[in-house]
Amino acid sequence: MSVHIAAKKGEIAKTVLQPGDPLRAKYIADNFLTDVKLVSKTRNVFYFTGLYKGKEVSVGASGMGIPSIGIYSYELFTEFDVDTIIRIGTCGAYTTDLKVYDLLNVEHAASESTYAKFAWEIEEDLLSHQGNTFGLINDSAKELALNLKATNIHTSDIFYRKNLALPEIATKYNCTAVEMEAFALFANAQYLGKNAATILTVSDVIPTGDQISADQRETALTPMIELALETAIK
Ligand code: ADE
Repeated sequence: MSVHIAAKKGEIAKTVLQPGDPLRAKYIADNFLTDVKLVSKTRNVFYFTGLYKGKEVSVGASGMGIPSIGIYSYELFTEFDVDTIIRIGTCGAYTTDLKVYDLLNVEHAASESTYAKFAWEIEEDLLSHQGNTFGLINDSAKELALNLKATNIHTSDIFYRKNLALPEIATKYNCTAVEMEAFALFANAQYLGKNAATILTVSDVIPTGDQISADQRETALTPMIELALETAIK
């Protein structure tokens, strides 16, 4: 019995798309899947299972931050026999080499978080994507003629901070952007021998303050959603 996901065994597909936001999960289910079933709504963190081009895919939220994705991804992998989780999220760019709407395929996530160490005795502060999903995402991007950049990113516990200088770990590992979840997803997948990848859309460029406006967000994320779905059915 899963503590945080109320779906029954067999109601979640082998591949799950994980946005941070429950309403984004609903948007994807409503607009991209057919034959959709709502399989969990515990804490309003919706999980849906449906068909994309005839193949079963689930979509459900991770919530925000390492503790939240740590819980949901662990329960998906261990209680529902999920093989692959593709996180789809937004990030802040640390460099003006990136622009809003740019699409990133995360090669490694670096973090100051102790999550991997205290959960799984994984001592590294730089964790790789897991399995072959990263490569499949690159293949799908080529087929869809999408410009996708492979990069290292920083998974931070902090959204608001006093000191706006580039965090030391970002410099150390050449992280071009920051988000708040990928490190924990990769740690869980590494420990459990599962597949995990993270695709990000740049929603803000930190040095310039450029950002995607709230009403642009829905359509801005369409290429990332299609990229994840095309990968999920490979
Ligand atoms: N996700 C999107 N933008 C972000 C930022 N600036 N910091 C952390 N996570 C983010």
